[in-house]
Amino acid sequence: GKGAALVTAWAYRLADQTRQIAETLEEFRLTKEQLLEVKKRMRTEIQNGLSLATQSTATVKMLPTYVRSTPDGSENGDFLALDLGGTNFRVLLVKIRSGKRRTLFDHIVHCISDFLDYMGMKNARLPLGFTFSFPCRQTSLDAGILVNWTKGFKATDCEGEDVVNLLREGIKRREEFDLDVVAIVNDTVGTMMTCAYEEPTCEVGLIAGTGSNACYMEEMRNIETVDGADGRMCVNMEWGAFGDNGCLDDIRTKYDDAVDDLSLNAGKQKYEKMCSGMYLGEIVRNILIDLTKRGFLFRGQISETLKTRGIFETKFLSQIESDRLALLQVRSILQHLGLDSTCDDSIIVKEVCGAVSRRAAQLCGAGMAAVVDKIRENRALDHLDITVGVDGTLYKLHPHFSRIMHQTVKELAPNCNVTFLLSEDGSGKGAALITAVGCRLRQQEQK
Ligand code: GLC
Repeated sequence: GKGAALVTAWAYRLADQTRQIAETLEEFRLTKEQLLEVKKRMRTEIQNGLSLATQSTATVKMLPTYVRSTPDGSENGDFLALDLGGTNFRVLLVKIRSGKRRTLFDHIVHCISDFLDYMGMKNARLPLGFTFSFPCRQTSLDAGILVNWTKGFKATDCEGEDVVNLLREGIKRREEFDLDVVAIVNDTVGTMMTCAYEEPTCEVGLIAGTGSNACYMEEMRNIETVDGADGRMCVNMEWGAFGDNGCLDDIRTKYDDAVDDLSLNAGKQKYEKMCSGMYLGEIVRNILIDLTKRGFLFRGQISETLKTRGIFETKFLSQIESDRLALLQVRSILQHLGLDSTCDDSIIVKEVCGAVSRRAAQLCGAGMAAVVDKIRENRALDHLDITVGVDGTLYKLHPHFSRIMHQTVKELAPNCNVTFLLSEDGSGKGAALITAVGCRLRQQEQK
């Protein structure tokens, strides 16, 4: 009688709820056809960025870096490196020695002596490389005008200025030491160079971290924005801006819109906002708010925590999605974030995280497939073997991102055999390497 009817109604509601959640997450599922379409569009935008006629309005800017060769092993000397734009701001002293690598203990002893040297080095006028991980329009290795800030950075009166000049002026004002600023370097380029030092087939750099971006060695003849047609130059793609002209709107969701609207750079970096660590947690948070409003989560109560921007950092997403974690532990992570969850809640949260990070990895893979296939076509090859130097918290910490990204590249660029090489601290070391190459070339010119 009545009881059976109630149970039926309850069972119906549960099934309906499960279906509605599944439908929401379905929006994040991309078919192979859709991913191939993303790859094709990325390719179109690459061309727009490289061509003179379209580059001024292109979203994927394809900025020349004036890095014209990877290290050849003969670089030598002491270099300072500045690294701004990731999670931390760092100053590094890098000693590059040509020739054999020293054994571990030699190395440790050397580091100690390096450090002592370092303390008394103010008079040395060291050459310096500056890793500055934002879009810069370069006219040489040591000049770069900031196009715009990304990743939530905001400092007034920098956009449109030459960042190297700003640094040199700051050094002058202080009147304590002098430095020879040789190069300004994007983190993707530093990462590529560091990997290329070990592995000469590395001609692509990728960052999947707070932000998302790539660079690669393009043929000079294809870079219409720089004079000359011989050899190659590394191009900083600034692919985070892919989609800013609306070309990804058909796959973006209302949650992506919400994340964009609430960001410091609304309307900008739309691909980055679907792919990178800084925004994945925000997409998750917006889905959770929606599911809660619809009564499917947290007993329909939107807590203050859930309203707080930026609570789901990459490291939490990574923990929640870790397969070794029992649901009870997922609940305790949520608890730690101030979210009271039931067991059912934690299952749903984990599914939401999975859908969002899978799409991110696939989109990133589609972009990379476009890049490696372009390189293959540049060289008129049926088959290309290539190495990609990678860095970034999302790539390193997330339990599934790298695997799904690799898989996607394999599927979408079947004629390329792509090896991913993790670069430890590549952006900082790379700046020093580029500085070293820059110094070497300068000395050659003077001879
Ligand atoms: C942002 C920056 C870009 C950088 C990337 C990764 O997309 O605009 O220059 O390479 O983040 O840090």
